[in-house]
Formats: sequence, structure tokens, C-alpha cells
Amino acid sequence: MEVIILENQQAASELASKRILSLVTQTPNCVLGFATGSTPLKTYELLGEAKSQQNIDFSKITSFNLDEYVGLPTDHASSYSYYMHQHVFGPLGLSPEQYHLPNGMAANIELECQQYEQKIKERGPIDLQILGIGRDGHIGFNEPGSSLGSRTRLKTLTETTRGDNKAHFQDQRVPYHVVTMGIQSIMEASEILLLAFGDAKADAIAKTVEGPITASVPASALQYHPKVKIFLDLAAASKLQNLEYYQEVYRKKPAWQLAEFI
Ligand code: F6R
Repeated sequence: MEVIILENQQAASELASKRILSLVTQTPNCVLGFATGSTPLKTYELLGEAKSQQNIDFSKITSFNLDEYVGLPTDHASSYSYYMHQHVFGPLGLSPEQYHLPNGMAANIELECQQYEQKIKERGPIDLQILGIGRDGHIGFNEPGSSLGSRTRLKTLTETTRGDNKAHFQDQRVPYHVVTMGIQSIMEASEILLLAFGDAKADAIAKTVEGPITASVPASALQYHPKVKIFLDLAAASKLQNLEYYQEVYRKKPAWQLAEFI
């Protein structure tokens, strides 16, 4: 795990977006895994700017989203489909053949989950997966207790997560169920960027990076992944015991490793 701690969300999002842009430039037909939520918004904004100001070409990428609420139509303002059109698909000019989200309105959710996994298998592997993290350590919507070997399936949100997501619902009525890629589906991505900002994420980050690998902290499974970069601001990093060491590692990074961010 590479823990990269920068002074604020802006600086961390800039570096994360540079890694994504570097991949898209070098491998135009790459497969990206997208997260939703507040955390990656700045990174997505920077990708949109790169497309409009530097003419970065996203026309050959394919994308898969981590999750979607069950029972929200795609045009519902709080659906992840709506979020993605607003913040990613629109600004990057992606066409419908390029992107995939789980269908939370499917009549047969179990079949939908199997088909989503099949699509990832056919078009994947995901070259680069972007992740946020919940206060309870969830990635995707793999809540505590999720099997580390899980695949796309229906999950029930914890009350903590429903409470945290209320702000994104005008009527505050957060669905109970979601379809989410599993921990194993996420782990099959070739590279993972996890972003976390603010005090509220500090505990989850400390457990993820320095705690035991346990289904009680789903993100801790990432300790097994060979290529994970964790982008943090100082607040989210504040409970890490080896904070200074991670900062030292980043300061002393050999120049050839920085080529990943160009
Ligand atoms: C969203 C997702 C979730 C969020 C997490 C953090 O697609 O998979 O794991 O990344 O709930 O949400 P924010 O960024 O809103 O704090």
C-alpha cells in the first residue's frame, strides 16, 4: 500500500487525477472503475478540465461503476446514474456504449448482479479502480461483515451509511438496499486509488492501513492488493501511527516512480 498524504483535498485530488490522466493517455482503451459520493468530485472536475483544456481523449475508455441504489430510477436526482451523468459522463463526453452501472431497477436483481459480473469479466479487468471509503470502512457498499470473497450482489446499508448519505437526498429517504460490486470484484482491478478526506474518515483509514485484515473493516482487504495508492489529506491521515514514515517515503520517492503521475 502506498499512503500519499498531501496538505489538503485539492492537492490530493490533483495528484489522483494526474495518475488517471497518465493511464488514459498511455492506454486510451483502458477500463476505469468509478466511485460516486462526495470524495472523488474534485478529481472528476479535474478530469473534465483536462478533457476541455488539454484535449485529453476519453472516447476509447470503458467504465464500470461500483454501485447503485435499488429502486431509484436513473433520472432520480440522488441516483448514482444521475450523479455520473452530471459529474463524469457528460463532462468527459462518454457515450452509452462506454459506461456501465448496475441497474438498481432490474426486476431480477440476482440476475442483474450475475450479468454485471459477466460484463466486467468480458471487458475487464478494470485497469484502475477509484474508491472512496465509508466511516465504517466500507468500499463500494460492502458494509462491515461483507465476505472478503464477495462479488456483485444486493447489500443492505447500515444505519451509519444511510445517515451519512441523507444529505444527498432532498426528502432524506435513503433506500435500504443497493447493488454493489463485491470485495473480490474490486480486488481484481489491476490498480486501485482510494481517496479519503476529513476527520470523519481518520478512524476508518487507520484501521484500513494499520489494523488487521478483517471483514469488519472491508477496506482492510486492500492490504492484500499489490498496487493500491491511498490519497489522504492531513485530517484523514491524522490517526495513522506511521504517519511520518509515509510522508518520508513520499518525499524520497525516486524520480522514475513519479513518472506514473505525468
Ligand atoms: C460510492 C461508494 C461508497 C463511497 C463512500 C464514501 O460509489 O462506493 O463507498 O465511496 O460511502 O462516500 P463519500 O465520498 O460521500 O464520503
